[in-house]
Amino acid sequence: MTRITHRGECRCLEPWTGSSVLLGNTPQSVALERHVADFLDMPEALLFPTGWAAGYGVIKGLVRPADHVVMDGLSHSCLQEGAQAATHNVHRFHHNALAECRALLEEIRAHDAHHGIMVVTESLFSMNSDSPNIVALRALCHELDATLVVDVAHDLGNLGADGKGVIGDQGMLGHADLVMGSFSKTFCSNGGFVACHTRALKEYLRFYSPPCIFSNALSPSQAATVLKAFEIIESAEGRRLREQLLGNILELRRQLEEAGFEVYGEPSAIVCVKIGSEALARLVSRHVQDAGRLANLVEYPAVAKGQARFRLQVMANHTHGNIRDAVAALKAANAAGRSAFDRLGAAWLQPPEPTARWH
Ligand SMILES: Cc1ncc(COP(=O)(O)O)c(C=O)c1O
Repeated sequence: MTRITHRGECRCLEPWTGSSVLLGNTPQSVALERHVADFLDMPEALLFPTGWAAGYGVIKGLVRPADHVVMDGLSHSCLQEGAQAATHNVHRFHHNALAECRALLEEIRAHDAHHGIMVVTESLFSMNSDSPNIVALRALCHELDATLVVDVAHDLGNLGADGKGVIGDQGMLGHADLVMGSFSKTFCSNGGFVACHTRALKEYLRFYSPPCIFSNALSPSQAATVLKAFEIIESAEGRRLREQLLGNILELRRQLEEAGFEVYGEPSAIVCVKIGSEALARLVSRHVQDAGRLANLVEYPAVAKGQARFRLQVMANHTHGNIRDAVAALKAANAAGRSAFDRLGAAWLQPPEPTARWH
């Protein structure tokens, strides 16, 4: 990876400082766009400086004020912000609630036959480690003349035997209208992409998506890093790493459950451990740190109030010893945190009501 990265940097002494519209493309980025499109079985792909920019940009670039966005309520911040920046007509359905999504689309179409509707979801919602039925969503979109966007940031490259993620497992490669993703998970780099079905749409996005005009393009070394990551993902080594990863995920989930924890969703590289109250979770988190460990604590607004959780990230090269160690540390911190919580009393730990100082 390092070697290729350096080669990428050396090869590209030609200028790349500029956005994708203004001299920002390089041989590496053009090759990467082609590779992303081919990997996803989509005709075209466009790079963005980050995954966040891709999520924001695909919605802001395509949706006009009179159009509608219908989105899973748990969609990532980049998608929510993109929708809000594009139109006031943002409709949210409860997480993975297909029937509610249908009802929203039917209601919109009942009084607006002409404007665009973009339906937005993720292939793997990391906080819950679950997935929508993309086949059904796509059929619904086609029935009611809507455009389906799927964010594949979390599973692309690391889930499924060949790394094609949930859309691969559901037989949906090449079938969503738009696929966006990030290189910041499996691909070891900054960067994001939107894959689409026509060259015209790609070029339209390049010129109307703000991050493609007003933000510097992916650097050659980042593009070369991602290309190398694809090489590994598509090799026998990649297949072995995914098998190892899945083994570790299953082992971590098994040990956590054995230790009395509840884990969210289906097996994926993000294992979220249920805690609940924010006050309790912060006490447990403090004990995790006191034990010299680090576990990301996620609470509102990243998840709903009262649903705080630890978010553990599993890698292929973790050992079973690492996993045992992590579970033991979390178990001890949980016990210590809970006893402090009981001692202090939940009421004492509630944050004070905010005072309206400007009244
Ligand atoms: C679902 C999802 N979409 C988009 C992003 C943004 O990706 P990036 O980190 O490349 O900006 C993330 C990263 O947190 C994500 O989880």
